Amino acid sequence: MAFSRLNALASPLDEQQLVNLQAALADLSAQQVAWVSGYLAGLGAAGAPVAEPEKVRTRGLTILYGSQTGNACSVADSLGEKARNRGLDARVVSMSQFEPRNLAKERRLLIVVSTQGEGEPPESALDLHDFLSTKRAPRLNDLRYAVLGLGDSSYEHFCRAAADFDQRLASLGAERLAPLQCCDVVYEADANAWSAKVLDKVGEITTERRAEVVTLPGVRRAAASKCDKDTPCRAALLENRRITTDDAVADVRHIVLGIDPETLTFKPGDSLGVRFRNDPVLIEAILEATGAHACESVALNGEEMELRQALSERLELARLHPAVAKAWAGRVGARDLGELAEDSSRLRLYVAERQLIDLLADFPGRVDAASLAALLHPLQPRLYSIASSQAEIEDEVHLVVSKVSYQAHGRDHTGAASGYLTERLAEDDRVDVYVVESSAFRLPEDGDAPMILIGAGTGVAPYRAFLQHRAANGDTGRSWLIFGNRHFQRDFLYQRDWQAHRKAGLLDRVSLAFSRDGVGPRYVQHRLREQAAEIYRWIEDGAHIYVCGSTAMGQAVQAALLDLVARAGGLDREAAAELVENLRRNGRYQRDLY
Ligand SMILES: Cc1cc2nc3c(=O)[nH]c(=O)nc-3n(C[C@H](O)[C@H](O)[C@H](O)COP(=O)(O)OP(=O)(O)OC[C@H]3O[C@@H](n4cnc5c(N)ncnc54)[C@H](O)[C@@H]3O)c2cc1C
Ligand SMILES: Cc1cc2nc3c(=O)[nH]c(=O)nc-3n(C[C@H](O)[C@H](O)[C@H](O)COP(=O)(O)O)c2cc1C
Repeated sequence: MAFSRLNALASPLDEQQLVNLQAALADLSAQQVAWVSGYLAGLGAAGAPVAEPEKVRTRGLTILYGSQTGNACSVADSLGEKARNRGLDARVVSMSQFEPRNLAKERRLLIVVSTQGEGEPPESALDLHDFLSTKRAPRLNDLRYAVLGLGDSSYEHFCRAAADFDQRLASLGAERLAPLQCCDVVYEADANAWSAKVLDKVGEITTERRAEVVTLPGVRRAAASKCDKDTPCRAALLENRRITTDDAVADVRHIVLGIDPETLTFKPGDSLGVRFRNDPVLIEAILEATGAHACESVALNGEEMELRQALSERLELARLHPAVAKAWAGRVGARDLGELAEDSSRLRLYVAERQLIDLLADFPGRVDAASLAALLHPLQPRLYSIASSQAEIEDEVHLVVSKVSYQAHGRDHTGAASGYLTERLAEDDRVDVYVVESSAFRLPEDGDAPMILIGAGTGVAPYRAFLQHRAANGDTGRSWLIFGNRHFQRDFLYQRDWQAHRKAGLLDRVSLAFSRDGVGPRYVQHRLREQAAEIYRWIEDGAHIYVCGSTAMGQAVQAALLDLVARAGGLDREAAAELVENLRRNGRYQRDLY
């Protein structure tokens, strides 16, 4: 391949890189070059190390995604693959890797973004989201774009982040290729239809094609060498140990799964997706309430199976979605439920406090197997923060699982996945799992950098992984754990691990807040305020701040952080907010909230 031809492709490589590339390709036959081009396209699509750092694009299609739990990322990946199969020059980039100012140089842009928290963008999308509403945001008159939102209409602010992106791009002068598409929890069909439609549009306005790239089937998956949501790995339960006392409010378990490290790899900060089986007792109750026959065959995505198997492995029974309640209203024709279904905020409140079995008790009705299967949503795997590091234990994943268990509407309820992991999965039983990468919740690259680790309840899980990792690496950075739960005596999770890290000199400080002990500060945010001056000193020393746990806790911590920075730093509110924002932008304030 001649140097001039490489140049003619308007390559983003610099001259030296082009020379190196030319040397590497010099001896290859045409067939080998075609293979290598496909291989590289596959690696690029999988986000492997060869994926180029962010570059300016004036011609091709850029697909930007903002994802917290992996869904938008996989939709964007598949969109990129479809675009390349059509010969389009497409690249897929996380918003966290995209320099917002370069937006002005894009011409064709597709955005796939989820909504988190209470209508907020995922952490990785915050910079771009914020930038678009600042005065620095450029006019985008030459940009053609479309936005796909992933969300859940159980939440008040359904797909709000996507709506923000769509509206802000339009107000900056960009032209829509298609109207905003909001997808609910069952998003695959809508996302596929939208992808086909927008790629048609992009095709219509695109003359250049990447004729020389051949994408070889299988390259992507092989390059990534990981299991994913659709092709999970099998893990075996090795340990299930309660780590709260019997009189603690929450039954929290230390779960150890044995894995094959060749197929399942993860980094500190990642979560594990778990595909579980529904409770057989609940399945019986649902069969009885509906009159549907367990042995009747039902079709799910063209696959035939008995209803019992579908209810066990494939259909969501615990999380009641408003759309399911609406569909049930249509079937049973109950007037009260019909009225409820018309009022979206009342319906949201109704389903938030109920599972399917409660709906069936409130509004009885009979259905056959096929109708019941058609009515229910696909089972949603649950995520758990990984509490171990492969640098220390390569062939295990540790989780901290709090069992959801409560009494309501005259019956006992159990969380579908937490009940499965803590009660129904027996030792050596196998469970399907996959890793969800959390690229926006990562240890500092510098092992000497100080860390402030803030978490309540199971939010402490990733910090166990962080400190294991640092211990295994011999890192020397200081750490400060700020942990909250209910009672010191009953639910101080992993107390011994923290003591060991303290002894080893890896954990400098531990600040505790037990809300029901009646002494000292109640919550972690109170600890932050109380220790404002010292925390500020750590920040000045370059500390990275992490927050993990409930969304509500995350918001309270954010407010406390702003206060303490203002107070200890002698800053006004605006300057304090800017300082915290800069920490976030520089990866020194990272959150994983659920
Ligand atoms: C990134 C991420 C990391 C996570 N990490 C962890 C972790 O490390 N450890 C951990 O334990 N969890 C973690 N979770 C939460 C976990 O994914 C599950 O949501 C949790 O275990 C509950 O799932 P479940 O299937 O047991 O309950 P579900 O079956 O989902 O619960 C069923 C339904 O019951 C209702 N409900 C629940 N409690 C009550 C109540 N008290 N009163 C009335 N109704 C109620 C709700 O409507 C709920 O939808 C994480 C979540 C995310 C997104
Ligand atoms: C903690 C949390 C908060 C969420 N908040 C919202 C919300 O406010 N609005 C919404 O439409 N969806 C919300 N969702 C649903 C997600 O947007 C949806 O699950 C989406 O598919 C996730 O895509 P991702 O994996 O790419 O982040 C929330 C999900 C989680 C886990």
